[in-house]
Order: sequence, then structure tokens, then C-alpha cells
Amino acid sequence: MTSKPTLFSGIQPSGDLMIGNYIGSIKNWVKMQDDYNCLFSLVNLHAITVEQSPEALKKRSLDFVAWYLAAGIDPDKSTVFIQSHVPEHSELAWLLNCHTYMGELNRMTQFKDKSAKHEQNINVGLFDYPALMAADILLYQTEKVPVGADQKQHLELTRDLAIRLNNKFERELFKVPEPFIPPTSAGGRIMSLQDPTAKMSKSDENKDNFIALADDRKQILKKLKKAVTDSGSEIYYDLENKPGVANLLTLYSVISDQPIDAVVKHFEGKMYGHLKIELAELIADYLEPIQNRFTEIRSNETELHAILTKGADHARQQAQPTLRAFQEALGFVLR
Ligand code: TYM
Repeated sequence: MTSKPTLFSGIQPSGDLMIGNYIGSIKNWVKMQDDYNCLFSLVNLHAITVEQSPEALKKRSLDFVAWYLAAGIDPDKSTVFIQSHVPEHSELAWLLNCHTYMGELNRMTQFKDKSAKHEQNINVGLFDYPALMAADILLYQTEKVPVGADQKQHLELTRDLAIRLNNKFERELFKVPEPFIPPTSAGGRIMSLQDPTAKMSKSDENKDNFIALADDRKQILKKLKKAVTDSGSEIYYDLENKPGVANLLTLYSVISDQPIDAVVKHFEGKMYGHLKIELAELIADYLEPIQNRFTEIRSNETELHAILTKGADHARQQAQPTLRAFQEALGFVLR
């Protein structure tokens, strides 16, 4: 057992892993890897709350794990696993279901957005998704959860549940987790390239809205050239009045690891077109070594499966004491 605080995060294998996921979460996972006992999950139970093609889901799941590793997650330091390999997630989710109120889930903006998008398939899982997410986190006595801003409301519910259950059973069943969300200007909410008032999303049907981690230089340049900017021609950061330019400046700042002010200064007197072309080169150069590592890692499925088996074993070991303690508190006869 480790004395480091525990960190948990996950990504759903839906759509094409893209730069917003990388900046909002994976990039921070890599940075925090040495200071925490980290668990990084590929959350496939979450992905089936919307319709998925089974073949695509299987392929994409291994792709995403390979991207985690290619981006710098070290399986010798961190626990990397597939959510469905650790049945404790579903089990705790059920127990949490019985302590989560309909009204709480009804308020979730992601549920409202997704049920509007998937009118034909508003299933119970889609509604209940935040209880499963709370289970993911609480199962490991997690203290830190690095995510993008869109997950804030789910994290608040997770904290409420932990506090409610600790109070109800008068013992510390669960640690109360802290979210780690970068501010918008540092990539907590990367916006869509075609509609900078909407968040960039990996499952967007219009692939021009996002830069996938797998996009090559030509595709990146094409997408950025088409990106919606704003009226005017001066390059400065104004989230409210110039959301398109602000989004491009944020991407430039995060990827080049320079403060926004320095980036604005660099583009003084230049046109939007310059910003787009330089940003495309910057992102392409940044992604190239990650893409090369991805190709190498993805080509060895045996090794990927071995990493995932070890990860699941390790995760289960860590999950079981928390689940047992909760079952005990509930009055279950333990075997
Ligand atoms: P998902 O799969 O939609 O996204 C994965 C991660 O990427 C972040 N993200 C973004 N960050 C910045 N700008 C964007 N445009 C952007 N789009 C997505 C997300 O915030 C997330 O961190 N419910 C989660 C998965 C999950 C999870 C968990 C996360 C399930 N259980 C437990 C943490 C802990 C989700 O749907 O993420």
C-alpha cells in the first residue's frame, strides 16, 4: 500500500479522443502521476449509456488505452484499467443508487443535453450515470479528480454523496474528493472550432469541430483554417466578445506552455490567419511524437492486455476494502 493520496480519472470510449480531452484531463494526469497513487480508467460502462457499435467500442477502447500510454502514463507508476474489468464499480453504483435522489439526477445538465441529443434512447443508465461516476471515484478513497469543467456538477454530486453517507453511518466510509479543474484560460473548457460558444466534444458528428489526437498535419491545418473566429482583426484575449480567438489563444498557450499574455504579445500586429497557421504547426509538432508512440504501443495488443490485466487486479485489490466496509455499514451479511 502507498502513502500517497489517491487520484482517479477516466475517459469514455466514445468518439475520437481529441485535444480537449488531452488538455482538460490527460495532460494533467501525466503531470500529477508522481505525486499521487493514480488510477486511470477507460470507462466503458459509461459509454454504453448511448448507442455504440460493439466492434467500434472494442477497437476504440484499446485505442484510448494506447493513447493514455503514448501521452506519458506509465503503467509501472499508475494503475491503468478498463472499468468493466472491476465489477466493484457496478456494485458500488447500485448501493449509491439507493442513496441518490431522483431530484439530484434530474438537475444534471449533462443528462438534459444528452437526452435532447438522443431522444430515441433516454435510458435509465443515462439518467443514473452520475451515480456510477460517483462509484468510480468513491471506490478508491480518492482525494483528487483531474477533469475538465464539464464534469464539475458530477463531482459536486459525488462529494454530496460521500458527505451524506459518512454522516448517515457515522463513520468515514468515503474520502470527500476534490476536483482538479483547470481554469478556462488554461484549457478547462476547450471550445468547438466551428462554434466557439459550445464545448469541443469527441462525439461531435462534425469532425471539423475538433482536432483528434490522431489527426495529421494536413487535417489540423485544414480544420484550424476553417475555425470560426470573430469580427475585427486584432488578436487579444476576450472570452466574452471574442470566444473564437480566445479559444485559439488558449490552445496556443497550453500547448506552447506560455502564458496567454506572452502569446498575445507574440501575435501583436499579426492577423487571425497567422495565428491559425502557427497554431496548426505547433499542435502538429506536439502531437507527432505522441502519435508515433501510439502506433508502436497499439501494435502490441498482447502487451496492452497484460497491462490491463495487471491494472484491473491492482484496482480490485484497492476497491474491495471500501466496498466491504460500506456493505457492512448497510447491514449486509459478509461472506
Ligand atoms: P469524457 O469522456 O466526456 O471526457 C474525458 C475528459 O475530458 C474532459 N473534456 C474536456 N476538457 C476540456 N475541454 C473540453 N472541451 C473537454 N471535453 C471533455 C472531460 O471533462 C473529462 O475529464 N464522465 C466523464 C468520464 C468519467 C470520469 C469518472 C471522470 C466517468 N467516471 C470518474 C473522472 C472520474 C466523461 O464523460 O468524460
